[in-house]
Amino acid sequence: MKKILITGGAGFIGSHVVRLFVNQYPEYQVYNLDKLTYAGNLENLVDVDSKSNYHFVKGDIVDADFINQLFEKENFDGVIHMAAESHVDRSITNPMEFIFTNVVGTVNLLNAARKCWKGREEGKRFYHISTDEVYGALGDTGSFKETTPYSPHSPYSASKASSDHFVRAYHDTYGLPTVLSNCSNNYGPNQFPEKLIPLFINNIKHNKSLPVYGKGINVRDWLYVEDHAHAIDLIFHQGKDGSTYNIGGNNEWRNIDLIKKLIEIMDRKLGRPVGTSLALITYVTDRAGHDLRYAIDASKLRSELGWEPTIRFDEGFEKTVDWYLANEKWLDNVTSGSYQDYYRKMYGE
Ligand code: NAD
Ligand code: TYD
Repeated sequence: MKKILITGGAGFIGSHVVRLFVNQYPEYQVYNLDKLTYAGNLENLVDVDSKSNYHFVKGDIVDADFINQLFEKENFDGVIHMAAESHVDRSITNPMEFIFTNVVGTVNLLNAARKCWKGREEGKRFYHISTDEVYGALGDTGSFKETTPYSPHSPYSASKASSDHFVRAYHDTYGLPTVLSNCSNNYGPNQFPEKLIPLFINNIKHNKSLPVYGKGINVRDWLYVEDHAHAIDLIFHQGKDGSTYNIGGNNEWRNIDLIKKLIEIMDRKLGRPVGTSLALITYVTDRAGHDLRYAIDASKLRSELGWEPTIRFDEGFEKTVDWYLANEKWLDNVTSGSYQDYYRKMYGE
């Protein structure tokens, strides 16, 4: 494989995947296509942007003409598709944006790849990155397998589920060489501070209240972002054509327990008496359609491709907090301007 298109490479997970591919595969030309929405930030990639095998293309996957022209011009060998609207709360207030980018955008890419690769699919690969949220919510036991029926509850997960179905349909109908993975919640550096962990780090730092939805008893399975990036590398190169792989950290936390652990680490690092920031916890109205529990069974990825998460949660969580505290300028830049309007609308402060 020579020319790889990574979509959404300026976002949270995308930037870690771009970095890994640019550094690990100097023989590849890596194209990062990103619209640079509020969640896309080229500051995430300052350490790779002068490398000769890295190319940035600003563009919108919803624009079919633009996408077709780009494929005709560059004749990509592989696609890793990560561009998406990714925040559940935003999908509740503005679902259409999610349908355009996540559904129409994905189908535009599938059409362009299909046209470009027609009759010479050998060695090509379209890899679609998805989420465990498509499977819906679990009760107190069990975990999602690749065969678990889809049952999305939020406009975000419904749009991702729809895009997953299109990817499989293009494989089965047109023989497009596809592979797909569904991952659990990621955490780590460079995540936009509207998602739980970076939002709460920023709020603790500024002594702002911590809005816990409902009773804080919802459970998420957390994976360090670099472990996800390594799984993506493995699946892209070795995953079986037409297959789906679940990726997860085997690391379930109730939100309230995770928040208390975060408070303990933050108080220690900020030199506050441990427990001081517990007073910031504020229980607020629950998220509509809030899934109770996600848990991933990643045994297929482990047995077929030998993948294991390598970063223990304790270590990854400390590293994450350290990164946000050390990168004040990054945090200040992304939380200025339109972020303030978003925050006021969402949390009324
Ligand atoms: P993110 O919101 O941080 O980044 C998304 C990127 O896509 C941004 O750089 C944004 O500018 C770009 N983008 C958005 N709309 C676009 C468009 N129309 N055209 C081109 N680019 C556009 O998201 P993330 O958390 O890094 O998630 C990346 C992918 O991984 C998504 O597909 C998401 O569904 C999936 N995923 C995320 C998680 C998680 O915990 N964050 C877990 C599992 C799967
Ligand atoms: P989030 O980071 O938005 O990820 P997702 O909804 O994709 O799992 O939220 C993680 C969990 O934290 C989820 O159960 C919702 C909860 N949450 C809060 O309690 N308060 C908040 O302000 C946010 C953003 C999330």
